[in-house]
Amino acid sequence: MKVVNFGSLNLDYLYHVPHTAVAGETISAKSYAISVGGKGLNQSIAAARAGVSVCHAGLVGKEGGILVDCLRESGVDVSLVQPTSAPQGHAMIQINDGGNNCIIVFGGSNQEVSREYIDQTLEGMGPGDYVMVQNEVSNVGHIISAANALGCTVVFNASPIDSSLLQLDYSQVDWLVVNELEGMAIAGCEDIDSIIPALTEKFPELHIILTLGGSGSLCSSGGQLWKQEALPARVVDTTGAGDTFLGYCVAGLIRGDDIPTILRTATGASSLAVSSLGAAASIPCREQVMEYLAQHP
Ligand code: RIB
Repeated sequence: MKVVNFGSLNLDYLYHVPHTAVAGETISAKSYAISVGGKGLNQSIAAARAGVSVCHAGLVGKEGGILVDCLRESGVDVSLVQPTSAPQGHAMIQINDGGNNCIIVFGGSNQEVSREYIDQTLEGMGPGDYVMVQNEVSNVGHIISAANALGCTVVFNASPIDSSLLQLDYSQVDWLVVNELEGMAIAGCEDIDSIIPALTEKFPELHIILTLGGSGSLCSSGGQLWKQEALPARVVDTTGAGDTFLGYCVAGLIRGDDIPTILRTATGASSLAVSSLGAAASIPCREQVMEYLAQHP
């Protein structure tokens, strides 16, 4: 079985601020750091640290060596990552005293993922293989439809949400992972409780994982619904917590774990991720997650 993640690779410029800046305001950062991130990269690293073999597919600009090194050091196969002359994708991240963030993403190299590159990368893949994708690379619709046509299991994290995602055919997606805002936008509803009913009415085969921040998460699959409560966390920085959750969910699916185990393990992983600074840097390995879960029965 092969797992390919078409995903963004970003340099994250982190600014610790007293509060996130509002229009017209200039504020001073208390500290600054450059870190490794991008939803795609974070999710590949989370899946790898959860114990799964994953190949990352994406493009990097000339400053992207640190990103490829971090993937490789985390056990991710980087043989599919290609160079581009486009500027490196990056994110400017304000983190406030409560650990919450405000992010500006510049796509750059991540928007160079072409249909040719996608087709070439998917060559030879088929039933039993997994394709992961988020909305920080170009040609997301083509990745989903091409992977689906080959019979791969498609895991789509509809993040960050924008209008292009409303045009996608979700019957080509197997697992959709969304937060409340993404779920409401795609389902076309205005309250959280309607997200799963509205999506399953439109796409009866879709498996859905809905993350609800401090209220835990839900999973809808094959007509059944599971709920996982949030676990205790000392919040320092929430950046990358959703990506950690998703990577651990994919690892659980691949391992064949049952849904309650998948949700609880992914929740434990994201609880640990929020307790330290940075995106990729804060993703725990499976042993740390198991130890944490044993302490929180
Ligand atoms: O989900 C967190 C990620 O979003 C950050 O690492 C940043 O790069 C943005 O893509």
